[in-house]
Amino acid sequence: MDRPKGATLQVPLVILGLGGVGRALLRQVLDTRNAVARRAGLALRPVGLVDSQAALVNPDGLTDELLERALQVKAAGASLGDLAGSLPRAGLAIPPRAIVLDLTASLETRPLLHAALANGGGVVLANKLGLAGPYEEAKPLFDARRVRYEATVGAGLPVIATLRTLLNTGDPVTRVEGVLSGTLAYLAWQLEQNVAYSVAIVRARALGYTEPDPREDLGGRDVARKALIMARTAGWALEMEDLEIEALYPRAWSEMSVEEFLDQARALDQSYAMRVAEARARGEVLRYVAHVGRAGGTIGLAAVPKASSLGSLQGTANMIRVVTERYHQEPLVISGPGAGTEVTAAGVLGDIIDLARGDWQKESM
Ligand SMILES: NC(=O)c1ccc[n+]([C@@H]2O[C@H](COP(=O)([O-])OP(=O)(O)OC[C@H]3O[C@@H](n4cnc5c(N)ncnc54)[C@H](OP(=O)(O)O)[C@@H]3O)[C@@H](O)[C@H]2O)c1
Repeated sequence: MDRPKGATLQVPLVILGLGGVGRALLRQVLDTRNAVARRAGLALRPVGLVDSQAALVNPDGLTDELLERALQVKAAGASLGDLAGSLPRAGLAIPPRAIVLDLTASLETRPLLHAALANGGGVVLANKLGLAGPYEEAKPLFDARRVRYEATVGAGLPVIATLRTLLNTGDPVTRVEGVLSGTLAYLAWQLEQNVAYSVAIVRARALGYTEPDPREDLGGRDVARKALIMARTAGWALEMEDLEIEALYPRAWSEMSVEEFLDQARALDQSYAMRVAEARARGEVLRYVAHVGRAGGTIGLAAVPKASSLGSLQGTANMIRVVTERYHQEPLVISGPGAGTEVTAAGVLGDIIDLARGDWQKESM
């Protein structure tokens, strides 16, 4: 990779995952490296790219030409294994002091993350799975000083940074609540506009807001993972079982094909329309809300006043409200787009810079 001018500190990066977020991140690194060098004194240098099959590694830095080719290959849906010089993923060794970016949705990356920390490097996560698993397994990542994970909650919104600042300034968090899924925010907003449940799901899917199987969003587990990550950041050692999760489809429908499920969904139109009408009669609207506190939490469809901040959300917007000892009359509120590859990658890039200027630089020199 060409060296940006004026930078003093080389920051080796290994990118695990070159899907939507990984490619957006690599593009942002290439496009912003001169500005990052000027403003932060850091030379961001990709030394490894890894997908589910293969890896490209050069501890001295991958050339711009190879990085551009890798971006093209991955955008076309092919494997890094198609590029000359690649090696099987199993043969990957993390270069010393590298900051490893986990932009996959896999637990297989765990040994590489621990190897990076043991090697004097750092870890930046958009992948929620390791942080939201059993607490004993996740704890080392929460405890390590050279780990950042802003993009796991609210994409690029400064949720984790805000929680950390509150805690660092001696303001204990007492409750966190909010709308944490753009997909389910959209569904609730459509229901509010009298769009049938089954139609809203098909629309959200057509717009690319849902996973290919919408039940992955409707089941609420992804929201629960985000709630758990915020809770653990706040210092509460909660487990998934401490959260009561309302799925927006009957569990008995889990085994159906996607097509059968979408067809069957019409059977729920009337009951959701009734919940919307009952809420409206009280001046309320439905939102898919997560509430979490020290003892546990609830995640599900809740009626909130139409005139409230949660009630006035539109489209796919997320909102996180944090109640603390100081912010107890009015919560601290963070709101904006909570998904999308560009803003998620920007959250990752911000973490890389924060880590490289702080704990990574201090502890690994
Ligand atoms: N998209 C968003 O708006 C958003 C927002 C916040 C957080 N996130 C999180 O960010 C992560 C990435 O999301 P995405 O949308 O980019 O996902 P994606 O498009 O499905 O990409 C996942 C990437 O991970 C690679 N991969 C899978 N297993 C791997 C392994 N064991 N080792 C190395 N690479 C592996 C895949 O390889 P192949 O290319 O070979 O299949 C693929 O390149 C997810 O955890 C997601 O939850 C996403």
